Amino acid sequence: MANTILVGAQWGDEGKGKIIDFLTEKVDLVVRSQGGNNAGHTVIVGGKKYVLHLIPSGILRRGTMCVIGNGVVIDAMSLAEEIEGLRKQGIRVTKDNLLISDCAHLTLPHHRALDRAREIAKGKGKIGTTGRGIGPTYSDKASRVGLRTGDLLEPARFSERLKVRLTDGNVQLKMLGVAPLDFRKTTVEYLAAAKIIAPFLGNTVVYLHKAVTAKKQMLFEGAQGTFLDIDHGTYPYVTSSNTTSGGACTGSGVAPNRIDKVVGTMKAYTTRVGEGPFPSENEGLGEFLHGLGREFGATTGRARRCGWFDAVCTHYAAILNGIDELAVTNVDGLDTMKTIKVCVAYKLGRKTLEYPPTDLDTLAKCEAVYEEFDGWQKDTTAAKKWNDLPAKCRKYLQAIAKLSGAKLSIVSVGPGREQTIVL
Ligand code: IMP
Repeated sequence: MANTILVGAQWGDEGKGKIIDFLTEKVDLVVRSQGGNNAGHTVIVGGKKYVLHLIPSGILRRGTMCVIGNGVVIDAMSLAEEIEGLRKQGIRVTKDNLLISDCAHLTLPHHRALDRAREIAKGKGKIGTTGRGIGPTYSDKASRVGLRTGDLLEPARFSERLKVRLTDGNVQLKMLGVAPLDFRKTTVEYLAAAKIIAPFLGNTVVYLHKAVTAKKQMLFEGAQGTFLDIDHGTYPYVTSSNTTSGGACTGSGVAPNRIDKVVGTMKAYTTRVGEGPFPSENEGLGEFLHGLGREFGATTGRARRCGWFDAVCTHYAAILNGIDELAVTNVDGLDTMKTIKVCVAYKLGRKTLEYPPTDLDTLAKCEAVYEEFDGWQKDTTAAKKWNDLPAKCRKYLQAIAKLSGAKLSIVSVGPGREQTIVL
């Protein structure tokens, strides 16, 4: 398989974890390049469930190297827990299958506390973050005051710098009416986690450069989705990193001309968590999917907001990311529907829009224009080949791929590895 970037074409939770796991079989390396433990990739292998937050899904395959690049933000305590948790589930995590950039920024305990306190202070205007401290970590990075994973290798220097950051963080927490964090306790806890992570740290840029030279095949696993991108998403209801394909290059140090292909993952309908406009949102569809036990967040357990497939968004995502191929997931979620709607344009007053407006208030005023499709009303979960899918289902999938402007290449009809159809 060529060097491939996999992105989410909607608002995250497109089922990327499963598609990444599927594609990983054909690659030597899996690279994470943005976001932090706000991501939650659920992968089911042999009936066993694994939820990954920071570690690339490649960890579940023997012989696959996993790299966490410089663009990722790392909560060392959470990462240490994830490593230990995987080991308890029988997964090998060693220096031979995990390398972490020594330039990745650290999410510190006060980042988490500030993220939560700021959300509460925003009241109705909250973003609906995962509360994992992602925004405050990237803010410190951009302000050039952040601590990096490499600092963990020098415990004395780390605690000195942490003291400065924590003092500043505590002032801000106090202003928000939150109790300050204890420096000694925080340092001890963080350094304990650092011991678990330190052996994995190194220069990932050089490592990846050598891998490219040796013609190793790489998969860049995107976290979150296109419309959560800090530049191109529904700002300010976005995450703090570049979730679109360009972020894979800056967040790993692999140059754009080393990339061969971009795969976009999207659900057969749309979901989003957190606040912000969502033109094709449909409460009835949400109730239906939640009733099936679907669409609860892997990271926060929150019920996701649900809506019809929005081709205005996925088409824009295809342009932004340069999507060559599409992987459509959760097709089975629509198995029992009688009719299925697809948003094909937005109506803004008398105008019909082909692209989503960049201004949030304007987007909030847009009404979805729908085209209706017949539901297939048959179980698709056992389908192994394209022709096993009901004709109406194939018609629907081809239509949403065409509207999105990319080639349909993978269809997922359930969470298992075997429930994947390659076209
Ligand atoms: P943050 O990334 O925790 O700052 O959250 C910012 C926005 O991105 C919120 O709307 C979150 O719900 C959303 N978000 C962050 N990570 C994910 C994800 O992995 N899937 C879906 N939404 C996410």
